Amino acid sequence: MRPLSAPPCTLHITWKELVLTASLLIFWNAPTTAQVTIEAHPTNVSEGNDVLLLVHNLPQNPAAYIWYKGQIMDLHHYITAYVIETERIVFGPAYSGRETVYSNASLLIQSVNQKDTGSYTVEIIKRGDGNEGVTGNFTLYRE
Ligand SMILES: *[C@@H]1O[C@H](CO)[C@@H](O)[C@H](O)[C@H]1NC(C)=O
Ligand SMILES: *[C@@H]1O[C@H](CO)[C@@H](O)[C@H](O)[C@H]1NC(C)=O
Ligand SMILES: *[C@@H]1O[C@H](CO)[C@@H](O)[C@H](O)[C@H]1NC(C)=O
Repeated sequence: MRPLSAPPCTLHITWKELVLTASLLIFWNAPTTAQVTIEAHPTNVSEGNDVLLLVHNLPQNPAAYIWYKGQIMDLHHYITAYVIETERIVFGPAYSGRETVYSNASLLIQSVNQKDTGSYTVEIIKRGDGNEGVTGNFTLYRE
């Protein structure tokens, strides 16, 4: 089997990751457990500087982290994901080339511009729980 029409930015991912990502997007279930919290460093970023969105209250045994721009968790808003088992980073359509997701779920956004302000949502998929996940969201302001 091979992926049929992966968007150009996700061409270099493995079949397993593609299946995981696709299943997360298609069969996403409403989260049932506590929300994670996100803290920005610095709190209000000025244009051209970097900001790190730190994720707190991570659930145990996460399988993947997915970051979205805005509060809509669909393919168009998907920036980047981190697959824990394979330690692979996957990029989505909303990836600008300036976002880096770390193994602890934090997201670094480099050289922030006006379009980067607004909400971000992180979805944390838990291992062995179907596709159950927890989410947290955060609004980025510019100084
Ligand atoms: C950040 O920006 C928001 C909205 O403009 C403002 O209410 C808040 O006081 C700012 N915080 C800091 C630490 O500058
Ligand atoms: C996560 O990783 C980043 C990059 O290595 C680090 O700066 C940050 O302090 C770590 N901790 C949390 C809670 O995100
Ligand atoms: C964003 O956060 C608010 C407040 O915690 C919450 O009510 C809302 O459901 C969250 N949205 C998403 C998409 O996680």
